[in-house]
Amino acid sequence: MPTPAQLPMTLSRAVNIADLRHLAKRRLPRAVFDYIDGGADGEVTLRENSRIFDDVTFRPRNAIATPQCDLRTTVLGATLELPFLLAPVGSSRLFYPRGEEAAARAAGAAGTTYILSTLSGCRLEDVRAATIGPAWYQLYLVGGQSVAMAGIERARLAGFNALVVTIDTPTAGNRERDVRNGTRELTSRRLLAMLPFVPQLLARPRWITGFISDGASMRYPNIMLPNVGPMPYADVGSALERVTITWRDFDWIRRAWAGPIVVKGVLTADDTRRAMDKGAAAVVVSNHGGRQLDGVSATLKALPEVVAAANGRVEVMMDGGIRRGADIVKALCLGARAVLVGRAYAYGLGAAGGTGVARAIDILQTDLVRTLKLLGCGSVRALDRSWVDVPSTWNYR
Ligand SMILES: Cc1cc2nc3c(=O)[nH]c(=O)nc-3n(C[C@H](O)[C@H](O)[C@H](O)COP(=O)(O)O)c2cc1C
Repeated sequence: MPTPAQLPMTLSRAVNIADLRHLAKRRLPRAVFDYIDGGADGEVTLRENSRIFDDVTFRPRNAIATPQCDLRTTVLGATLELPFLLAPVGSSRLFYPRGEEAAARAAGAAGTTYILSTLSGCRLEDVRAATIGPAWYQLYLVGGQSVAMAGIERARLAGFNALVVTIDTPTAGNRERDVRNGTRELTSRRLLAMLPFVPQLLARPRWITGFISDGASMRYPNIMLPNVGPMPYADVGSALERVTITWRDFDWIRRAWAGPIVVKGVLTADDTRRAMDKGAAAVVVSNHGGRQLDGVSATLKALPEVVAAANGRVEVMMDGGIRRGADIVKALCLGARAVLVGRAYAYGLGAAGGTGVARAIDILQTDLVRTLKLLGCGSVRALDRSWVDVPSTWNYR
């Protein structure tokens, strides 16, 4: 008889996000798993994003009964059942057949928002139709202004509720794992270049079967290039570089999109003020999950500066490193209205599609309720700075 510790890990036995990560690693080819899991350069910021949560400690109020814990919050005027949204994660269709639709459906079923990346493998109309919850469209300018404007118009017609403009990708980050795994070669569609890296795909027959049954498409149907059609995967790095977004672009984006604009990738008071000047309704404190400029501050540490600069005039969210419900509680205590989770659900998607995303959401939701009860706090809306201690060395005002 195997001891409980020796039983194989399955979705129903996954107790935390690290278990989902383990399952994703087992199902996905190395190149796909590392694309999700990896960060830029030495991965210092990637690690620090998660580690920094250990530096913030709770101040519980004990001997208080909290039979009900209210996790609801409002973001951009919509009531969400949970204080976390699913972050834009590009190329999710590589993780699981119809990946973006599966993740959006799971978000809607749980009563929260799904944010669709421009770099999506599924058509934005299909993703919007897959969820009963709010959906936001994350914009990259790949392909140039007229291609982006066509995307914005499609997002409007499809009924997306907000536009998220990501500002931290003037070029692709240096993801060394991707280079080693031959991601560029594997997406090149040149057989000879691909060949040395194919064995890692063959080692995951279950993934290959799913990928082929899903059409084996390696294109982005929401980036329609003139004379080309949907942009091929291979062109992302250079495409990002050709179209660096600047604050001036917000003028035409504002004219093209009448709904709320969310600026994602803010780490300083200066950028918070610029976003507000450009009419943003919300900002996301984000370093792209440590995938862009390595060595920038962990986002939890940057959050108080942005909250102070926003001064209640725009909603502040944050993402980066969140793997447990307690992490979400700490971010809310430091002033985030809600958080975005990226890898936490991407691991679930890679492990088991929509069921895996639902499991990730469930794990975080259960954590949240337990953490609130142990804190003696009945509602996420009551969380503030008084529930935590932060290190005295933080630039916290
Ligand atoms: C595999 C992957 C792909 C991503 N693609 C995008 C993207 O297309 N657009 C974007 O704004 N952010 C993208 N991000 C960043 C996430 O939106 C989010 O900022 C980050 O994942 C948060 O960190 P976490 O993964 O530690 O939760 C991506 C992140 C990952 C892990």
